[in-house]
Amino acid sequence: ALTSELGKQIKLKEVEGTLLQPATVDNWSQIQSFEAKPDDLLICTYPKAGTTWIQEIVDMIEQNGDVEKCQRAIIQHRHPFIEWARPPQPSGVEKAKAMPSPRILKTHLSTQLLPPSFCENNCKFLYVARNAKDCMVSYYHFQRMNHMLPDPGTWEEYFETFINGKVVWGSWFDHVKGWWEMKDRYQILFLFYEDIKRDPKHEIRKVMQFMGKNLDETVLDKIVQETSFEKMKENPMTNRSTVSKSIMDHSISSFMRKGELWGLENHFTVAQNERFDEIYRKKMEGTSINFCMEL
Ligand code: A3P
Repeated sequence: ALTSELGKQIKLKEVEGTLLQPATVDNWSQIQSFEAKPDDLLICTYPKAGTTWIQEIVDMIEQNGDVEKCQRAIIQHRHPFIEWARPPQPSGVEKAKAMPSPRILKTHLSTQLLPPSFCENNCKFLYVARNAKDCMVSYYHFQRMNHMLPDPGTWEEYFETFINGKVVWGSWFDHVKGWWEMKDRYQILFLFYEDIKRDPKHEIRKVMQFMGKNLDETVLDKIVQETSFEKMKENPMTNRSTVSKSIMDHSISSFMRKGELWGLENHFTVAQNERFDEIYRKKMEGTSINFCMEL
């Protein structure tokens, strides 16, 4: 009871209309003045879009498929999370500063809130998008189990919260649109969670080429196997099982929950689904982005 009350007490703060965690906002000037380097690779996602998955894929490629090297640390510690802050621990910015180049970093920030030096230095961006409905379902369960985030309330309540972008890191719609629109002007590899699910080897090869690496087919096959949902769910370095129960309570919902596509698990009522589709059409009007919802 104590921990869930702790969750409910979380008071989010705002930057330019986007809700963020209080410690992130308190550290905002340090985050905005972050000094990117030209050889940085930034992994960018909306929360629950498959961040951990792409991080593990990127690290496996970086380590040439060496599983033991990928076991050197939990995934949260391998790639500094630039807007992350939880004093007195070192912030994401401090961890990035301490990391030798070439650095691989992580962010959930929208293009609007991204520290300007990433674009000024023409860094590489690896964006993973996941369809709105699955992000919403996944985020709902994540907010239930993660006591650093507000309690999501009922599914009906969360539906309103999510479509209005009143969640941490802001609106899914603005996030995806912003990165999609930026992709032709910068070095951005734009991937879809659904495509990685459908044909992991094909998408992993794209990541490898984007990173300027050249690995054998057997290594690629090994990376496909090691980054499967089943493997990562069992892997303590990726499944968040080492996080204290007062922060993440896996008995409420596990971090590696389902890893599935819309249709295979459906929380939406028929009415909610129709309303969502209508809102989606309006908010995404004029964008060419297209999510394939089938395997
Ligand atoms: P679900 O809650 O739908 O299961 P993030 O890392 O951005 O927080 O995203 C977490 C989501 O990605 C969870 O979705 C999780 O199960 C899914 N995920 C993590 N690793 C995966 C993998 N190897 N294959 C498919 N989905 C994965």
